[in-house]
Amino acid sequence: MIKHRIFVGLFFLYSFWVAPFVVAAQPASSKLGMVASEQHLASDIGANILRQGGNAVDAAVAVGYALAVVNPCCGNIGGGGFMTLHLANGENIFINFRERAPLAAKSTMFLDAAGNLVPGASTVGYLAVATPGTVLGLETALKKYGTFSREKLMAPAIQLAEKGYILTAGDIKLLDAHIDDFKKQSNVAAIFLKNNKPYQVGDRLMQANLATSLKLISRDGVDAFYKGQIAEKIVKASQQNHGLLSMEDFAAYSVNMLPPVTCSYHGYTIISAPPPSSGGVTLCEMLNIIEKYPLKKLGFHSVMSTHYIVEAMRYSFYDRNKYLGDPDFVKNPVAELTSKSYAAEIRDKIKPDRATPSSELGMKAELHEGMHTTHYSVTDKWGNAVSVTYTLNSFFGAQVIAGDTGFFLNNEMDDFASKPGDKNQFGLVQGAVNAIAPGKRPLSSMTPTIITQNGHVVMVVGCPGGPRIITATMEVILNVLDYRMNVQDAVNASRFHHQWYPDSIDIEPNAFSPQTMKALKHMGYRFVPLPEWGAVEAITINPLTHVQYGANDKRRPAGKATGY
Ligand code: DON
Repeated sequence: MIKHRIFVGLFFLYSFWVAPFVVAAQPASSKLGMVASEQHLASDIGANILRQGGNAVDAAVAVGYALAVVNPCCGNIGGGGFMTLHLANGENIFINFRERAPLAAKSTMFLDAAGNLVPGASTVGYLAVATPGTVLGLETALKKYGTFSREKLMAPAIQLAEKGYILTAGDIKLLDAHIDDFKKQSNVAAIFLKNNKPYQVGDRLMQANLATSLKLISRDGVDAFYKGQIAEKIVKASQQNHGLLSMEDFAAYSVNMLPPVTCSYHGYTIISAPPPSSGGVTLCEMLNIIEKYPLKKLGFHSVMSTHYIVEAMRYSFYDRNKYLGDPDFVKNPVAELTSKSYAAEIRDKIKPDRATPSSELGMKAELHEGMHTTHYSVTDKWGNAVSVTYTLNSFFGAQVIAGDTGFFLNNEMDDFASKPGDKNQFGLVQGAVNAIAPGKRPLSSMTPTIITQNGHVVMVVGCPGGPRIITATMEVILNVLDYRMNVQDAVNASRFHHQWYPDSIDIEPNAFSPQTMKALKHMGYRFVPLPEWGAVEAITINPLTHVQYGANDKRRPAGKATGY
């Protein structure tokens, strides 16, 4: 008894005196506005716009263009993405600027005469490129909800491209992995290699051609990109290199505004990406299933909380792959998949003491994606919030830059099911709902999300990483809402991922104790240890004090969360 009291006393001493100093990583904080992005210079630019009186949309547009310069792997004007907005007046909006397949695209365009996938055809070079959406997406957001001029918001990006910026270790890490790709094209090597050698930490990267393209957009607006010189240069390069893009593709490109997917979770409202992203539907389906399990009581990364979360991931990814595609082409059962009653049906099938074999759910498919997208979050002092994820798909997209335009083009065509039932570059096998068609948008996993409580924003969150986008975003949400972590700890915490197939749990280093893994293996789980993934850039807002807290993912050291 006495021994027990001494132990308890020591434990309390430990938790009071030691734990506060070793556990919590501190987020950035401000009452006036917050920007979290994967590149510190872009975050500073966004915070500066807020400081000058711009709203969250103004800052998001400036950050979008800045990342196209300082995060060239992923930030872009040659790709596309999604923007989820919550306005201070209570309105929730989703802007869909996902790329579209060229009008000359055919469902069989990546197959050889024997009907087999041609390796690399949908990932490298001009055939992989879909019509980019970023420029029209950012312009649409700005025209409808921004207050500053495009010229003012693009000026900092233009300056960074023209005058250059100093590369940090985080920036170099992203470039270094692709030196051999840069060498293949002389116009790419001229920008991203220094005298044909890799850039070093402390070097200045200048992008004069990109500056020229950005200046044209700044001066002439979207027409410079979709009707003028830039489109002409991309179409010319595409036609000379077996691509399909035409001037009609650019002229016909459109952005649309869709109602976001919404669901409730423990009284919070989740506002996220609808199809053509699978993100919001899959996130809501997982949260609906998990809602009835007492996560906090079960414990963080405990055997039982992990079991229930993994089962929710498994069932929701099965539905994702089977049912979702571009809503302009297929009917998506969004209401059914995100209903509480459907979640209850799934919970009824989940056994407390064993993993459900994925084969019990249906046909076999595998998904594996890397991380080459970028997410950023912005909040302002008026109650507006913006959550943006945009992408070139692979790192540096299709690895091509058209002539002297200075920016990489996406390889988003690979997100289609080039041959329904066969794997894409990441091993992702999808169905006919996501087959290629002219003008169609490929299914995405991007999950730009905003969470409100009683109409007020409490969280802005999202991530890169293919299918792991959806699970990483959810895990950070659970860390904040269930486990009550501060946003920086929530983002830094180790992750796990299951996607129906392969039927195994991907785990980051130190995600589970050996005892927990042993117990989960006993229930039928298999583990695949992987290096860390994702880059969650998140903001939380305390509903009582209105203080905004920002977190840059420790996995992306070039990034920063900054208030003003
Ligand atoms: O839209 C999608 O789901 C993919 N194109 C995203 C690719 C991705 O996230 C890669 N890594 N960050």
